[in-house]
Amino acid sequence: MKVKNSLRLLAAVTSLAMLVSCGESRPEYAYDAETPSLYEAYSDYFHIGAAINSWDLTDQTSDRFNLLVKHYDTFVMENETKPDQIHPTEDTYNFGPTDAFVEFGEANGKILRGHTLVWHSQCPQWFFEDNGQEASADLLVQRMKDHITTIVSRYKGRIDTWDVCNEVLDGGGMRFSDWIKIVGDYDGDGDKYDFIEIAFETAREADPDARLIINDYSLESDSNKAIKMYSMVKSMLEEGVPVDGVGLQMHVGIDMDVEAARENIKILARLKEINPDFVIEVTELDMSCYSWNDSSTEINFSKIEDDFNAKYVELFEMFIDLAEEGLLDSVVFWGFNDGDTWLNGYPVEGRTNYPFLMDAEYRLKSAFWEVVELPGKKS
Ligand code: G3I
Repeated sequence: MKVKNSLRLLAAVTSLAMLVSCGESRPEYAYDAETPSLYEAYSDYFHIGAAINSWDLTDQTSDRFNLLVKHYDTFVMENETKPDQIHPTEDTYNFGPTDAFVEFGEANGKILRGHTLVWHSQCPQWFFEDNGQEASADLLVQRMKDHITTIVSRYKGRIDTWDVCNEVLDGGGMRFSDWIKIVGDYDGDGDKYDFIEIAFETAREADPDARLIINDYSLESDSNKAIKMYSMVKSMLEEGVPVDGVGLQMHVGIDMDVEAARENIKILARLKEINPDFVIEVTELDMSCYSWNDSSTEINFSKIEDDFNAKYVELFEMFIDLAEEGLLDSVVFWGFNDGDTWLNGYPVEGRTNYPFLMDAEYRLKSAFWEVVELPGKKS
């Protein structure tokens, strides 16, 4: 595997070197045949993925489809596997989009992530109600188990990794969602991690070989949150709850502090002391071009391009370091081109953002070249 990866990397570096030595100009588009593959460039370090939607898969002859297969070896659906889309009413499952996603992954030899089984957001209200009243803890637990078992069993051995629970923490500690409010301390042991524990146990039963992740945001920037996640997962691991890893969403900004992120990730990596196979994944990477306190809607990208590139390089250098220490094996972008991103319009209405390595027409940004050439410079 390692030899194969090194050969791929060598081929990528050689073709780049040949381009440069022949004085040829670099390809312009992500789908151009001469463009080096992002995931192949990083194959000695970690997998590289992208969040997609079902319409990305409909025309398998398009440039858009081809660039996805070329640059990413891992995929996740941005919305269509979430509870409100895949299980809109108690008796209705809408498997179509996720079935098509899984068929695409298998046909192209890709690693697939499932996002997400249990979340407070994009979860239909029927889960929490019973004839107009609040559902009982027993009913909600049963519904959650049915939901997880049905979905994870259907894709057993086909979806490799599940974000079993998403965003169970907020800044101050456990998020007071309907899940925690209703299920509470179900087993009476004094903690309220119960809905999480049952979710992981149910997912493990449904597919013993799937990797089970607890996913959250701001873990890289908020050390209190990283510490809270560490203590919660530590206590669950000590009780034998099958959590295989923590997912860091990493919706970062151009002004992020990479060294602080490294420290916070190291806090989480200490969970390896309890389970040496414990993993850290980056699950939803994008980099807003706006500072956190900027409320403008438009930015002149060329003016911040150097800072954007430098931050991406610093970030990927850290990812490589973490991979070399055996702490990181997957980096998934939350999208892939600047035209399709939840950051257009969020958190400021009407805002245009440019968070990725290719623009809205799939033209390669200078950051692409800096990132794709980084592993070659390291080896
Ligand atoms: O499904 C409805 C559709 O029926 C309706 O016609 C349409 C009209 O606007 O809205 C559709 O729902 C939208 C949904 O995306 C699917 O497109 C919602 O309005 C919209 O709010 C929703 O946004 C998604 C968001 O999660 C919801 O919280 C974003 O696309 C998605 O990128 C974002 O992803 C989350 C991760 O799951 C968790 N981490 C944070 C990340 C970014 O917020």
